Order: sequence, then structure tokens, then C-alpha cells
Amino acid sequence: MKLTKKDILGIKDISVEEIKLILDTAESFIEVSTREIKKVPTLRGKTIINLFFEASTRTRTSFEIAGKRLSADTINISASTSSVVKGETLIDTARNIEAMNPDAIVIRHSAAGAPHLLARMVKQSIINAGDGAHEHPTQALLDMMTIREKKGRIAGLAVAIVGDIAHSRVARSNIYGLTKMGARVIVAGPAMMIPRDIERMGVSVYHKLEDAIKDVDIIMMLRIQMERQQQKIFPSLREYSNYFCLNRNNITLAKDDVLVMHPGPINRGIEISPDIADGPYSVILDQVTNGVAVRMALLYLLIGGKS
Ligand code: CP
Repeated sequence: MKLTKKDILGIKDISVEEIKLILDTAESFIEVSTREIKKVPTLRGKTIINLFFEASTRTRTSFEIAGKRLSADTINISASTSSVVKGETLIDTARNIEAMNPDAIVIRHSAAGAPHLLARMVKQSIINAGDGAHEHPTQALLDMMTIREKKGRIAGLAVAIVGDIAHSRVARSNIYGLTKMGARVIVAGPAMMIPRDIERMGVSVYHKLEDAIKDVDIIMMLRIQMERQQQKIFPSLREYSNYFCLNRNNITLAKDDVLVMHPGPINRGIEISPDIADGPYSVILDQVTNGVAVRMALLYLLIGGKS
């Protein structure tokens, strides 16, 4: 099967078959990153622009590494060092990049829908690296890859996503992806951090961490997205952590072989205690490793894998 899409904008628009194709392709790329010479010629002569209007460590670096391991030329543009600081609009920036004829543009932007706008404006493949509180499709794909790698399946697993669901593009993309793939998804957090009507996305809602993680296979902890909150929605981080920090006591409520996931960056001691983040249940760094493979797969399928 081929990926016939021009762009990867969100998990909402990706079919189960396409998700499986991306994960299978990513698995086949894992080996490249373990070689002494971590490079294959697959995308030689292709150019990838990473256009990041928001901070990133994992996503930007892994897209750059993914492109380089496939022998593409990768160029990073961040808002702070671009002509955006002189007032250039997103559309003008994109049109000028398009004029240099790259093959793909990876974009992260604080505005929900910015990658969708670009996808309509330019002929290149657009990959959404996170748009506001809307979607972060490549994160959900690497999360699903990690779950499948560690558990051998996604269907039938119980996954609790805990924290600031309302402001989390990671939660939204994972809810779309995990429910499509047959997992049972539970979301938990203080009432102010749970979007109204989220049950319509096919999830169960809890407001106590202990209720949410009881007997689950996967716990996905989320960071409080202070940068996206218009107003202070809880009294203090200490109070939040008293009720919603995953620690060595409450984790015993989950299954014995539970996996602990976090998209990063983590706030140690707030949503997750350091011993859990670094402990035997944690697959947080496996997620990061798989991020390179997933992004290699997407670049290959979008701009190199059509023939
Ligand atoms: N998970 C994630 O998107 O991390 P970065 O913000 O560091 O890219």
C-alpha cells in the first residue's frame, strides 16, 4: 500500500490502514539508526525545511536527524532568526520558501490550523509538527509505535491520558489514533483541564488520578501547558501535584506491566515523580528513539516512497 496523501496534518484524517503502513515503515527504519554509518541514500537530492515558530527539542531535532539519515538536505528555520521578526506573515514566509523549491515543509506553529493553511497554499508536502492545542500527529504515531513495540498490539489495551487535556495537542492526536486502533482511552485531570463534551471523542472521563489508572496497561502523563492557559486555572503547581502526580504509591493501582509514557518535556515532581520517570515502567526515552524512525517513515512515504 502507498501513502497517497500530499500532507500529514492530523491523525483525525488518517485511516487505520495508513497508520499501520506508517508504523510498519517506521519499524523497518529502526535498524538504520543502529548502524555505524547511520545513513541510507533514500532521499538523496531532496530538501526538507523545518519551520518552527514554537520551541522544540525532540520534534525538530528528530526531523532533522530523520532527514539526514535518509540523505536529504535539511534546513532549520526558527521564528526568532527569520524575517518573521520583521513582520513577515506566515503565508509570505511559506511562499518564499516554496519559491526555493524544497520537497517538504515541517511546521510547528502556535495557531491551530496553520499547517492546514500552508497545505492549501503551497505545492510541497506539509507535515504538522504541532499546531496550537489542535494536533501533534507525529507524536501520536511515535507513541503508537512504542505501544505496539512493547505490548505487541494496540487493540484492547486500556490507556489513561492524564493532565492538561484541554490544552494538549498530544492528547487530541492520541485520542484519535488510539481509539481508531481499538484501544480503550480514559482521560483524567481537574475539571478545568478537561474539554466539555470530550466523551464524544469516544473516551471515558475521570477527575481522580487513582480512578483513571486502575488496571490500565498504559499511563500517558502530560505536562501542564502554562504557555497556552489564558488564566491561572488552579491555585498552585504544588496543589496540582498533590492530586495528579504519578508516583510510586499510586502507580501500583495500574497493571503490573504498565508502561509509563510522556511526550516530554517533563516537569519532574509535578506530573511525574523522578523515580517513575526514570524507573522500570518508563518508556519515555524509547518514545524519543522511535520518533526518529516515525519521522523517517513519514518523509520516505511522502516524498520518496511513491514509486
Ligand atoms: N514532544 C514534543 O513535541 O517535544 P518538543 O516540544 O521538544 O518537540
